[in-house]
Amino acid sequence: MPITAEAPSASRNTMSFVDREHKLLIDGQWVAAASGKTFEVKDPATGRTIARVAEGDKADVDRAVKAARRAFESGPWPALTASQRGRMIWKLADLLEQHLDEFAEIESLDNGKPRTIAAAADVPLAIDLFRYMAGWATKIEGNTIPISVGYMPGAEFHAYTLREPVGVVAQIIPWNFPLLMAAWKLGPALATGCTIVLKVAEETPLSAIRLGHLFKEAGFPDGVVNIITGFGETAGAALSGHPDVDKVAFTGSTEVGRLIVKAAGSSNLKKVTLELGGKSPNIILPDADIPAAIGGAANAIFFNHGQCCCAGSRLFVHRSQFDQVVNGVAEHARKIKVGHGLHPETGMGPLVSQIQQDRVCRFLDSGKREGAKALAGGQRREGDGYFVEPTVLIDTRPDMEVIREEIFGPVVAAVRYDEPEELIAAANDSVYGLAAAIWTRDLSKAHKLARRLRAGSVWVNCYNIFDAALPFGGYKQSGWGREMGHEAINLYTQTKAVTVQL
Ligand code: NAI
Ligand code: MG
Repeated sequence: MPITAEAPSASRNTMSFVDREHKLLIDGQWVAAASGKTFEVKDPATGRTIARVAEGDKADVDRAVKAARRAFESGPWPALTASQRGRMIWKLADLLEQHLDEFAEIESLDNGKPRTIAAAADVPLAIDLFRYMAGWATKIEGNTIPISVGYMPGAEFHAYTLREPVGVVAQIIPWNFPLLMAAWKLGPALATGCTIVLKVAEETPLSAIRLGHLFKEAGFPDGVVNIITGFGETAGAALSGHPDVDKVAFTGSTEVGRLIVKAAGSSNLKKVTLELGGKSPNIILPDADIPAAIGGAANAIFFNHGQCCCAGSRLFVHRSQFDQVVNGVAEHARKIKVGHGLHPETGMGPLVSQIQQDRVCRFLDSGKREGAKALAGGQRREGDGYFVEPTVLIDTRPDMEVIREEIFGPVVAAVRYDEPEELIAAANDSVYGLAAAIWTRDLSKAHKLARRLRAGSVWVNCYNIFDAALPFGGYKQSGWGREMGHEAINLYTQTKAVTVQL
């Protein structure tokens, strides 16, 4: 159900930020790119340019890494107590909360997502993540370890471990949840005492830049967080191959994940964590609460326009309920109000870019070519902006591209199954393993199935449930390591064993 694509305007406060000249944050200063270059930022609902930002590349990355190294090794940051560090992160969360509406508007303008959703999900989750990680700063502990050392009879030792920050970390983030991805990465790095060079996605740089203006106010010393806007092939590649970066944390495509591993390997063997693609199975068992499962299946794929690494993009339904469920999801799809994210009634905005719209439409074409049928949607919306109709595909086969590859758009491919055994094998038949969901009234079945699904997150009778305390990440080619929870703290620290002979 399309509503007007006419652009409602953001508040004057938000526009006074958007209209500024946007620079790089290096060593506490906002500076132009060394090359003097800038690039355009677009409103994806209209295709119009809304801002220009500095185009950082290798020279700027070098400056930023130097600043981060200095801040890690000397000056006030390493001298702070854990409690002081925690309070700064908490203060950052408070400041973000004070500017919640502004951040939600920026996110909507820049990414295209509905402002109402950014205000209810993206920004509050980012605030909560910072608060959760603020609490960790004072709880990063080693162990005291009784050692035996058989080859030194009679000798006594006191041995313990320290968990120390990894050092200078590069964080490269995507455009689907620009502020939230920045928070997921920055939170644990700050809590553990690392210093950071953050490379934001070229499609959506604005919310991270706005956040950059809050670091000083929260009390962080210069150089602790540096922000580079620029392109992947230049700024991103310079970071992942930099010899003085101790770790790179990346979220994005599997293809670029491989490039990052290669760059880390051929430079200084920096540590790597990756959060990559997915093709997550959403499984409805015959005994499920079917109306709830239908709503859940729609939310699983259409939330954030399907631009979620964990989107429920393969929907498994028993033969006996297939028509009822897919018709129900198609009905949801047709009712979604697609329009400009700032319009209060919009349920789904545009995709983030022309490139993404074309990519998703190529998958729709390949689905058609291979024999799948669109029960709802199935094409781009003509006119301004990068809109694609919410789509439900049926008549799929396991070898189709729309079943095997991540589409990253509002397109669900439905699969009919007969036997539960065949179902588990089919659900796991993917190079990815990020998330999965099961809808059933039989909890014993749910727990058993949860163990057999090869995925980093399994949701039962729900979908897209995230919490700062819950680790998130992938099996198989969906990634290395976990974000959030105490697992994220572990991945930004390393263990030192100290042994004292008494
Ligand atoms: P991408 O992987 O190219 O971009 C993500 C980030 O990586 C951006 O900041 C980009 O500048 C940076 N980057 C790109 N090339 C790089 C390089 N050579 N070295 C270092 N950094 C580099 O993803 P893109 O092109 O925006 O989207 C392509 C597909 O990737 C999507 O269709 C989707 O399937 C997947 N994707 C998955 C995401 C996730 O959350 N796991 C997020 C975004 C995209
Ligand atoms: Mg790319």
